[in-house]
Amino acid sequence: ITAEKAGFDHFMMKEIHEQPKAYRDTMGSRIDASGRKVVLNEVKLTAEQLRDVNQIHIVACGTAYHAGLIGKNVIERLARIPVETDVASEYRYRSPIITKNTLVIVVSQSGETADTLAALREAKRNGARVLAITNVVGSSVAREADDVIVTWAGPEIAVASTKAYTSQLIAFYLFGLYLAQTLGTQDEAYIAEVIDAIKLLPEQVEYILGQAEAVKQVAEQVATHEDLFFIGRGMDYAVALEGSLKLKEISYIHSEAYAAGELKHGTLALIEDGIPVIALATQHDLFEKTVSNIKEVKARGAYVFGIHSAGEDELKKSVDQTLEIPKTLPLLTPALSVVPLQLLAYYASLARGNDVDKPRNLAKSVTVE
Ligand code: G6P
Repeated sequence: ITAEKAGFDHFMMKEIHEQPKAYRDTMGSRIDASGRKVVLNEVKLTAEQLRDVNQIHIVACGTAYHAGLIGKNVIERLARIPVETDVASEYRYRSPIITKNTLVIVVSQSGETADTLAALREAKRNGARVLAITNVVGSSVAREADDVIVTWAGPEIAVASTKAYTSQLIAFYLFGLYLAQTLGTQDEAYIAEVIDAIKLLPEQVEYILGQAEAVKQVAEQVATHEDLFFIGRGMDYAVALEGSLKLKEISYIHSEAYAAGELKHGTLALIEDGIPVIALATQHDLFEKTVSNIKEVKARGAYVFGIHSAGEDELKKSVDQTLEIPKTLPLLTPALSVVPLQLLAYYASLARGNDVDKPRNLAKSVTVE
């Protein structure tokens, strides 16, 4: 059993540590030798078909849905195509406007999630082209989609998804760049700059893993509470949603993720003395605004654990504890900032004596609607 877990106590921890490899494998041969272009040989969509796409729907469940929220940001910024991200179990029932010019991207680690598969079929029935991002070659989703980008994360055993999620992010970065280079929405120099930054991510994740002990201390404190909040703006908000889900899934601590600017419209009423708030402030353009939201919760007695990018350590003055992630492009921070949140959930679950790999009531793959 320990050999299977490569010396780690749980599959989840093993899989968290496999992320640098999963990033490298998912990038793999999809970046050409010059380092200036993305090559997606498996995507058969022609340049002409891509030019005809006037909207993109991303559909998925659970953690894969959270990857899709990042995907929306990435594609809209890089390719300037409007994107909507939906939970698969909602998508079909809201009578979505799907045409032959819609590209539907389904995201699924297992490729077998019933709701996601049903959404895929609905999209195809309406004449959309379907691209799947999945971790399982030959899965139902992979077989039924028109195009497939495989995330090479390797088998994921722990119910709480970690390396599959981050590999999905890498897939979105690559696809976003591919769209940008095909449609000419970004210049070559910028595409090369993003590629260079993506290549650095694996070693930057290693660096964050080296800070695990600091996260563990925060997790042990968090584990003594029954309620907490995750806040962030922009992509940090999408990462906050994933961090909150991870924590709920395995520690059974209730938490809520909030768009930081929305706090004053309601949730601030719940902030009282000592309540932990995990604040993500990695988006350079939104940094000042997020700091002002952090000050609002601090003023009401919250205990704030802040996550910021290297070089923006003014955050230290406004919060109780910080963790620094290495510097990267704002578009790429989710691939780094989620790692401490995975560790936080892991250590909080452990501190509570839970079964980390097999949380109660949850299944790795949900094949019923
Ligand atoms: C289940 C798992 C989640 C996962 C979701 C979607 O609920 O417990 O961790 O995110 O299904 O799974 P998929 O295989 O489609 O990514």
